[in-house]
Amino acid sequence: MKKIIGLGLESSCDETAAGIVENGSTVLSNKIASQIDLHAEYFGVVPEIASRAHLEIVNPLIESALEESGLTFDDLDYVAATNRPGLIGSLMIGLQAAKTISYIKKIPLITVNHLEAHLYAPFLNSSAISFPYIGLLVSGGNTALYHMKGIGDMQLLGRTVDDAIGEAFDKVSKFMGLGYPGGPFVDSLAQKAVKKKKIFPKLMASKNEDYRFSYSGLKTAVINYVRSNPDYDMAEVAYSFQESAIEILIRRTFAAARDLGLTDIVVAGGVAANSRLRHLFADACRHEERVIIPPIDLCTDNAAMIAGLSYHYYCREEFDALDADVTAKIRG
Ligand code: KG4
Repeated sequence: MKKIIGLGLESSCDETAAGIVENGSTVLSNKIASQIDLHAEYFGVVPEIASRAHLEIVNPLIESALEESGLTFDDLDYVAATNRPGLIGSLMIGLQAAKTISYIKKIPLITVNHLEAHLYAPFLNSSAISFPYIGLLVSGGNTALYHMKGIGDMQLLGRTVDDAIGEAFDKVSKFMGLGYPGGPFVDSLAQKAVKKKKIFPKLMASKNEDYRFSYSGLKTAVINYVRSNPDYDMAEVAYSFQESAIEILIRRTFAAARDLGLTDIVVAGGVAANSRLRHLFADACRHEERVIIPPIDLCTDNAAMIAGLSYHYYCREEFDALDADVTAKIRG
C-alpha cells in the first residue's frame, strides 16, 4: 500500500497545531502550541491576541512537525486546514499557511470541519472503531450530539441551546476565583469533596426529553448559591456542579445510542479530558455499549485529527481551490 502523508493545520481558537499523519491513521507528529498564558488574565479567548499568536507560531510549528517526523515538504501528498467553525481571524492564519504550501508544492488543499475532525480522533493510531457511531463533542465552544454515519456524513441530533459545557466550567471557575481554563481546576477541586451532596438539580425536566443540552441555568444556580452562601465549601460546589453537568451528557448520549440502535459512543473535545466524565461514561455502559474517548492530546484541539480526517477526502479527490474561505459558524 502506498504511503499517503498529509500535513494538517489547526488554528480555530487558542491553540495553533501542526500534525502529520500517514494513511489517515498513523500519527507521525502532533505539535500543539497553546495560547492559554496569553488569555488567562482575561478569563477567555481574546480574538485579536489569538490571531497574532497564531501568525507568530505557525511557521516554526510546521517546521518542527516536519522535523519530528523526519520529513520535508517534498514528502507531503496533501495539506489540510480547519476552515470552520471558529474565530475568523484565527482560522485565516492556518488556512492561509496551508494555501501557500499547496500553491508552492503543488499538492492538494483540503479544508476541514473542526467538529467532524474532533469526532474522527479515535481513528488515529487505532483500528478499534468504525462507522456508524454516536459522537458527543464537549468543548469550550461546543456541546453537541451527532449520529456519525460516515466521512462527511454526520447528522446533528442536538446541541446546547445556550452555553457550551466547557464555557460553564470556565465561568464557574472564574466565579469561584480558580484559574483559567476552568475545567482542570474544577476537576481536581471536585476530587476533594467528601460529603458529595446534591446541591444543584438535574438539568432539563425529563418530560419533553430530546437531545438538546442547556448549561446557563446550572451556571446561574452555582453563582446564586455562591453569592448567598459566603462560607460555601468550594470542593462540594465543584463536585455537585460537575456531577450535574456530566449527568445530562450521559442521559442524552445513551438515550440516542438506544434510540438509534448504536453501540459505539465516541466522546471528544477538551471537556472529554475530565476525569469524572471518563469514569462515569465507562460506568454507564450496559450490554454491548462501548465508550471510546481518545487520549487527552487527541481530545483537545490538535492537528493530527485534521490531517487524519482529510486523508479520506484526499482519497475521494475532494480538494479545495485556493480561494477557499473560512466560516465562523456552521449549521448541523
Ligand atoms: O476542545 P478544547 O481544547 O478547545 C476549545 O473548545 O477551544 O476545549 C477547551 C475546554 C475549556 O473550556 C476547558 O475548561 C475544558 O475544555 N477542559 C475541561 C478539562 N480540561 C479542559 N473541562 C473539564 N474537565 C477537564 N479536566
